[in-house]
Amino acid sequence: MKNVLVTGASGKIGMCLRALLKGVYPHLRWSDLKPPADLAAGEDFVRADLADVRHVEAAVDGMDGIVHLGGFSVEGPWDTILNANIVGCYNLFEAARRKGVKRIVFASSNHAVGFYPRRRRIGIDAPVRPDSRYGVSKAFGEALGALYAFKHGLAVTCIRIGNLNDAPLDERRLSIWLKPEDLVQLIRIGLEHPDIRYEVFFGASDNARGWWDNEAAFRFGYRPQGRSEDHRDAALAAQAKLPPDRIGDWYQGGTFCSDEYDGDPDLSPI
Ligand SMILES: NC(=O)c1ccc[n+]([C@@H]2O[C@H](COP(=O)([O-])OP(=O)(O)OC[C@H]3O[C@@H](n4cnc5c(N)ncnc54)[C@H](O)[C@@H]3O)[C@@H](O)[C@H]2O)c1
Repeated sequence: MKNVLVTGASGKIGMCLRALLKGVYPHLRWSDLKPPADLAAGEDFVRADLADVRHVEAAVDGMDGIVHLGGFSVEGPWDTILNANIVGCYNLFEAARRKGVKRIVFASSNHAVGFYPRRRRIGIDAPVRPDSRYGVSKAFGEALGALYAFKHGLAVTCIRIGNLNDAPLDERRLSIWLKPEDLVQLIRIGLEHPDIRYEVFFGASDNARGWWDNEAAFRFGYRPQGRSEDHRDAALAAQAKLPPDRIGDWYQGGTFCSDEYDGDPDLSPI
């Protein structure tokens, strides 16, 4: 893996990866709607709107692998999600196919399965249960990844990122925390492991209160270093300051589930 493109370079995770991937691959290219504020001379940056296939083709040209972070990263109006995450994701995979890119790592989200109750432990075989239009777009990206893997031979890894931060911020995030260095491990498995064809991993660190069976990632050698219980006291103190949220506190997706909720008032036990 010599030439690697990272989309969403100016966002939170992109900025993090600019530091953590330095020197890992000989040629890193960064792309976003606008360059990162601290772009250094000599860094390869291509400005591209994911919704414009010509921009995307120019960005992926000459690349061996792509880490696809770009898009709208929370719940939003349908048109926003449609353009950035549905059309944008399609353009990315299709441009990659046309330009002969071999591998894609797609930043999926826990919100693709947010409507599972917290008391349920799930694996990647659990059907998607998106908790938002945003979550639907991530389920779409995972499905698109499977199409391009099995029909067009790309090696695709979808990482259902929990919450990336230096430390877990509250009780929910004690269960879904992802330490930045652990994300780098998962990305490197996706870009480098010889046996990847199509995989879905949970982007979670070593979280004792975790809800996800990450067996697939462990089989590929993932050994998370972050332990969320080391941050338990601070996270629970922060949680104590939050108002209760009957729906959000029951489901894995938290406030993404309670926002706009006008469904069954009885909480699903399954
Ligand atoms: N941060 C997390 O904990 C987390 C959790 C789950 C999933 N994710 C996913 O990981 C990815 C990165 O997350 P983040 O926190 O860095 O998000 P972010 O919002 O900070 O960054 C996303 C970047 O995508 C760019 N972008 C948006 N629309 C675009 C378009 N049409 N064309 C080109 N670029 C566009 C934005 O300019 C932004 O810089 C996202 O896909 C997000 O959904 C993140």
